[in-house]
Amino acid sequence: MAIERTLCIIKPDGVRSGNIGNIIAHIQKEGFKVLSLKMTRLTKQAGGVFYEVHKGRPFYDELVNFMSSGPCVPIALEKENAIAEWRRVIGATDPAEADPGTIRKLYAKNKGENAVHGSDSVENGKREIGFFFTEQELADLA
Ligand code: CDP
Ligand code: MG
Repeated sequence: MAIERTLCIIKPDGVRSGNIGNIIAHIQKEGFKVLSLKMTRLTKQAGGVFYEVHKGRPFYDELVNFMSSGPCVPIALEKENAIAEWRRVIGATDPAEADPGTIRKLYAKNKGENAVHGSDSVENGKREIGFFFTEQELADLA
């Protein structure tokens, strides 16, 4: 299997609930390499662009409002099979349906405020990582 990159975002609810450290510990326990991370706050406009694939869906406005409601922590991750692996680690979109031990089961409130983001394909992962990080920020510092 190939080495892939995926974008994690610790969403505003995950920051507000004091779980930045717990979620990063989970990332490291699962063997992902952290390429870069930052804390930032999305404007409504930037949140709208990031989630533009969902434009027109009934939850879109609420999602954009939520994602711009406070700081978030985007984290660029790398691992073998990272896209599927990270989605396994975070669990289902709705924490009520997420497997025990997954990040959303542990830390999410509901289907909207669900603690973390994960890219759904290698292509989208590239776009999403590029949305938050420059090439220089992703350069291997080791
Ligand atoms: O994040 P994930 O890929 O699991 O789900 P998605 O279907 O791509 O939806 C993106 C985000 O929109 C979710 O993580 C939720 O925050 C939100 N959402 C929602 O509020 N209500 C839904 N019915 C579906 C998604
Ligand atoms: Mg998605």
